[in-house]
Amino acid sequence: MTKKEPPSPAMRGLSTRAVHAGTAPDPATGARITPVYQTASYVFEDTEHAARLFNLDEFGQIYSRITNPTVAALEGKMAALDGGAGATACASGHAAQFVSLLPLMNEGDEIVASRHLYGGTITQMSQSFARFGWRVSFVDARDAGAVAGAITERTRAVFTESLSNPGGIVIDIEKLAKAALDAKVPLIVDNTLATPALLRPFEWGADIAVYSTTKFIGGHGNAIGGVIVDSGRFDWDDRYPALTKPSAAYHGTVFTEKFGKLGYTVWCHAVGLRDFGPAMAPMNAFLTLTGCETLCLRMERASRNAAGLASWLQSRDDVAWVSHPSLPSSPSVELARKYLPRGTGAVFTFGLKGGFEAGKRLVESCRLFSHLANVGDTRSLIIHPASTTHRQLSAEDRAAAGAGDDVIRISAGIEDIEDLIADLDQALSSR
Ligand SMILES: Cc1ncc(COP(=O)(O)O)c(C=O)c1O
Repeated sequence: MTKKEPPSPAMRGLSTRAVHAGTAPDPATGARITPVYQTASYVFEDTEHAARLFNLDEFGQIYSRITNPTVAALEGKMAALDGGAGATACASGHAAQFVSLLPLMNEGDEIVASRHLYGGTITQMSQSFARFGWRVSFVDARDAGAVAGAITERTRAVFTESLSNPGGIVIDIEKLAKAALDAKVPLIVDNTLATPALLRPFEWGADIAVYSTTKFIGGHGNAIGGVIVDSGRFDWDDRYPALTKPSAAYHGTVFTEKFGKLGYTVWCHAVGLRDFGPAMAPMNAFLTLTGCETLCLRMERASRNAAGLASWLQSRDDVAWVSHPSLPSSPSVELARKYLPRGTGAVFTFGLKGGFEAGKRLVESCRLFSHLANVGDTRSLIIHPASTTHRQLSAEDRAAAGAGDDVIRISAGIEDIEDLIADLDQALSSR
């Protein structure tokens, strides 16, 4: 394991943390940029040293499935950005979601999850988690009462996105955190679309944050990855035996006793990554670290571009509706004022008059926007979900998932807004 140092007092601001946290000059060579430690394994000093590492009596490197110095630098940066006790990087955002739940869930346990999640997460939870005997109740997380009402004796986590993909619904995290705390279960927030640059979930009472770093954290569309950040604040009790009961695999170690606030994070590495294997590759950590340095600048610019595009689209006759929390017409506008004062995010949807065929023609007519299935790039991205990501669903199910025939999703990049508007204008006019 690698011990994560808290950010120095000189790193108060988020932009400073995005640049500096986790990435001191390389202790071995003085290299200013964190090197890509492209190694599978690490030489022990002697057998005693090896024994201490394997017994978790000393933090250090054993094997890159469990820890790696380049990956640890990213973990340190993310923990500092969110103000958490520790972080665990994973191979993808989906892997991070899976590993975040592993220490909490046993067969027959339940998750109360927001209905407004990225479609892939709904499938992950409803189809694949079900095969472990993990049960998921999906509720409207805009209603904290509904969340509280869905929690049972077997609930082990409440899961929501802070800013939902793609609908841009802002969730009242403070209320959800209270509902979860009252039931003594942790609130896990997928903060992928907001990122710590716009919203820090622990400031509102969340216990764990998860990210697809593939999106805005890396920010350049060049590396798949995910991160779990633990606040270190949740009071784990015996409903969470993986964390609070002796572990047979580690000679009776009780993770919360031995590691205190780092117990959850150490478990995610020492058991979650060790036994299930979805570790982040060092090269992906390097690319993500580099991208993350400009996180605050990019989020500010991309949010401003999204707000500008949303407002421009709303004024057009060929557009039926636009959904972005920056718009006064958005049902999320009040919550956006509370939770997203630094920017309302880069992803939004709009409805095109003309339906399915009009949607296909629009994405094919764009020259600057890239037609692809991702969000959170420096480049502006566009997709027509009904003909791509959601095409296997019936028209009815597509509409329920917010991917009706008329829906277009945009992820605004950091280009000049005039060029983005000109591209959409020509694409809409040439249909
Ligand atoms: C909000 C959100 N969470 C999680 C994921 C999954 O991330 P990854 O594709 O890195 O596994 C995505 C992917 O689009 C997402 O949008």
